[in-house]
Amino acid sequence: MLEQIEKLEQQALADLHAVQDEDALQRWKVSHLGRSSSLMKTFDQLGSLSKEERPAIGRRANQAKQALEAAFNQQSDRLRQQTLERSLQSERLDVTLPGRPQVRGRLHPITRTLRQINRVFGDMGFQVFRSPEVETDEYNFELLNIPAHHPARDMWDTFHTSTPGVLLRTHTSPGQIHVMRKYAPEPIRVILPGMCYRYEQVSARKDTQFNQVEGLAIGKNITMSDLKGTLTDFTRRMFGEQVRTRFRASHFPFTEPSAEMDIECFLCQGAGCGVCSGSGWLEILGCGMVHPVVMTNGGYDPTKFMGYAFGLGPERITMLLHQIEDIRYLWGNDIRFLEQF
Ligand code: DAH
Repeated sequence: MLEQIEKLEQQALADLHAVQDEDALQRWKVSHLGRSSSLMKTFDQLGSLSKEERPAIGRRANQAKQALEAAFNQQSDRLRQQTLERSLQSERLDVTLPGRPQVRGRLHPITRTLRQINRVFGDMGFQVFRSPEVETDEYNFELLNIPAHHPARDMWDTFHTSTPGVLLRTHTSPGQIHVMRKYAPEPIRVILPGMCYRYEQVSARKDTQFNQVEGLAIGKNITMSDLKGTLTDFTRRMFGEQVRTRFRASHFPFTEPSAEMDIECFLCQGAGCGVCSGSGWLEILGCGMVHPVVMTNGGYDPTKFMGYAFGLGPERITMLLHQIEDIRYLWGNDIRFLEQF
């Protein structure tokens, strides 16, 4: 009997040695220390042994049981440690690595100007109306009272597409016709922001691609003083109360009378410099009372309705606001320039 216990113990220890994972360890426990294991059964048999034999065998069986339990605990600890080390290896996380900073985006200065313009006109009751950047000759010129071969077309050097009569709009003014045809004969108060394109020699003041914000108000009693008041108020809200502005008589085929609005040059404070070509003033917009021909083309009776229109340049306004001396910086996409805003 003692020998048998010895054998059981040796076999169990040898088996335990071969155990490599938690499942196998549990199976080992059931078969060597479980209720129906051979070792446990020896305890059941103690009662049938003689008085002399019983203590020695009992003691030996207990010893074996304790030895196996201790070995089990040891092996269990070893396996747990192994698993931990393995997962530390495979799920390695180096907490000493410096974090990756989040890149903070920002709005392009023109976008900010456009939003500011939208807000100021929004406060005055103007709604934003979108119109296409690819236009027809009819909308970009004809309907705005600029017939083919008319010398006025010289003011707009145009990008034409390979489809005859389809072009990139040179100004946002064709949007006036779209908006009028949509709402006639209702009164209108809208602004039309968007990109325009001109086939031009670029310079510090001109680029081939730029934004405009067109404005249009149509109603029964709209006068030139409404136009002047609205635009003067607009410049005060954009540049501050102290801003100095002037209106100059001008000519546009789609307005009569027509004017241009200037702002005192930010660089020389009106003294005259290179940026303002010595005049002390910078032009920011064209405007006027909507021409009767345009009114008719838009579907309004010019004997009953009147209106004003304007087209202003957000790039110019941005240049004035931030004292930028060259328009080409705005679309040059140079991060050193953009990061300043
Ligand atoms: N469309 C003109 C341009 O691009 C600007 C302009 C002038 C717009 C007078 C208007 C206006 O609405 O009334 O040069």
